[in-house]
Amino acid sequence: MTLDRSELGSGNALKLGIFGANMSSGIAATKVPERWSSSWEENVALAQMLDDAGVEFMLPVARWKGFGGSTNFEGAGFETVTWACGLLGATQRLTVFGTVHAPLVHPIFAAKQFVTVDHVARGRFGLNLVCGWNQDEFEMFNVSQRDHETRYVHGAEWLRVIRMMWEREGTFDFDGEFITLHGVESQPKPYGGTQPVIMNAGSSDTGKGFAIANCAYLLSTIRMSVDQAAENVADAHRRAAALGKRLGVMTTASVVCRPTKREAEEYYRYYADEQADWDAVERMVEIGTRGSSTTMQPEHFQRMRVRFAAGYGGWPVVGDPDTVAAEFIAIARAGFSGIAMGFVNYLAEFPYFRDEVIPRLERAGVRSVDFGASRSTQR
Ligand SMILES: Cc1cc2nc3c(=O)[nH]c(=O)nc-3n(C[C@H](O)[C@H](O)[C@H](O)COP(=O)(O)O)c2cc1C
Repeated sequence: MTLDRSELGSGNALKLGIFGANMSSGIAATKVPERWSSSWEENVALAQMLDDAGVEFMLPVARWKGFGGSTNFEGAGFETVTWACGLLGATQRLTVFGTVHAPLVHPIFAAKQFVTVDHVARGRFGLNLVCGWNQDEFEMFNVSQRDHETRYVHGAEWLRVIRMMWEREGTFDFDGEFITLHGVESQPKPYGGTQPVIMNAGSSDTGKGFAIANCAYLLSTIRMSVDQAAENVADAHRRAAALGKRLGVMTTASVVCRPTKREAEEYYRYYADEQADWDAVERMVEIGTRGSSTTMQPEHFQRMRVRFAAGYGGWPVVGDPDTVAAEFIAIARAGFSGIAMGFVNYLAEFPYFRDEVIPRLERAGVRSVDFGASRSTQR
């Protein structure tokens, strides 16, 4: 039996993934010396560790330019599709996403590249599509960003071409609003007669609508509370159902798990406040608010600043293993189907999470005991 690809290779109700490991500092804008360096060797070791632990996915950040500050936050990073290809070649079960800017990559090149990686991976490649966000980066490419609404119209057309290349036999022409192509042919098709899972992290109503209509997953930040997020998830599911679609909603979390709650909270304060790279955080928020359709009030920034330093404004999950597991279970019960996690140093911190939190999630029934995984074995 072949699993539906949107299951990411497991039947677990709550999928787990790692977010941002392709970038220097990961998603934590911090100066602490143990922050993630994102060397290739560390990425491979991490991917193999996750693969052995039965973690479902790795999700990279598509970033072309650092956010400045004393660390030049995310200034060094691997291009995501070639990064995914290397990691997929070194693993067996993990899904690895590429995060790709539709306005910056020609769809014929992109569709063919995704198919190639998907064959290397034997069907474990996923696509996280970005329609446009960071103006600084577009300037670097000398490409002007379309206005916010049009970006998503272009994104839908770009994706239509990708899917036509994945599905159509023979040759076809395409005459769209933005893209014109002649005599297109594309072989082979994605691996095994199925297609890569597609995700999008639109946060405006238009962005969410795009993800709901075109993607298997919406990646959505928990803003105020898990309870409130549950309403947004239910709304996304309702909108998908109205289109006759099944949708998964994922979120991101900055995880600090330590033997005691106090140790975890102290470390969170240390890396995300005392040692935060504030210049980088301010630049990231400024770029982020310019690039989305939503504006951020100064009071909101004050309230959120530590969360932005901790992990892009994702939901902080900080505590001992019981607390972290309880929060993950609450997120699952709120309707989320997955969590993309940030750690300050993924390789140093994931083993404790694997040994202490994952078994608690299994006992709670949001993940099943995975007999295929040799959880603590070394390669
Ligand atoms: C969790 C998350 C991850 C994102 N990752 C990237 C990324 O790697 N690269 C990028 O340019 N934009 C990224 N974005 C930006 C989104 O694609 C989108 O542009 C942003 O959420 C604004 O949404 P809107 O266009 O609906 O206003 C991310 C957003 C979120 C919430």
